[in-house]
Amino acid sequence: MALFKTKESIVIDDAQLKIPQHIAIIMDGNGRWAKKRMMPRAAGHKAGMNTVKRISSSASELGVKVLTLYAFSTENWSRPSDEVNFLMQLPINFFNDFVPDLIKNNIRVAITGNIEALPNATRNAVLQAVEQTAGGTGMILNFAMNYGGQVEIVNATKVIAEAVEKGQINIADINSTTFATALQTAHLGDLAAPDLMIRTSGELRLSNFLPYQAAYSELYFTDVLWPDYSADDLLLAVQSYTKRDRRFGGLKDESEK
Ligand code: FPP
Repeated sequence: MALFKTKESIVIDDAQLKIPQHIAIIMDGNGRWAKKRMMPRAAGHKAGMNTVKRISSSASELGVKVLTLYAFSTENWSRPSDEVNFLMQLPINFFNDFVPDLIKNNIRVAITGNIEALPNATRNAVLQAVEQTAGGTGMILNFAMNYGGQVEIVNATKVIAEAVEKGQINIADINSTTFATALQTAHLGDLAAPDLMIRTSGELRLSNFLPYQAAYSELYFTDVLWPDYSADDLLLAVQSYTKRDRRFGGLKDESEK
């Protein structure tokens, strides 16, 4: 029976670890990581890309079924164009390097967000990676790209309203299942809701990331900057999740009723 030892010296029997089926991560702190080293922000994003490789492999080894990473938000377009261009180049580099490893690890790439609006080269790299890894039956590595939760909900509402207008569904029949199929996580089916939502770098907010799907997610915040985030850090989050009591609005157990 293996024991995990983390840098905070928490030891937990791996047999007792509760592995979240879906982990979503807000990868924050690339800029501050670079600034601390007197490097350009792009260097932080490049280091952050290497963390994506590390953490994708670790999550897959842990048995996570879906890992959703917030790679680019609808609000990130407001950054200086140099930085936006660099961020648009990263997926191209990442998939160039990493698709063989993803295939070897049986990982399938998926996308949440409006990729139609991405530059052609970025969109093509993403679509190619989705196609090349389509045979993967292990973890889904779901990149949130050009994603914003409020726009997602507004668009889902429009899709449903149009269906009502065309007489395809009745208002009375709209329910959470109808809604789930109109969201940009529909491809994740029953796994669309993250069990565990992690944000790095000490910021304590969700920044428009999966606001509908995260209604019952367990939240975990760490001060570690994304480029420094390690397999041990992921394990700490999973250990914290293991100790959580998820009630989904109900009671703890029968004795409390
Ligand atoms: C937030 O840090 C990070 C981003 C907006 C970009 C995240 C992108 C990556 C980690 C690389 C993605 C890789 C692939 C493969 C798509 P920040 O720049 O806001 O940091 P700061 O708050 O310290 O300035």
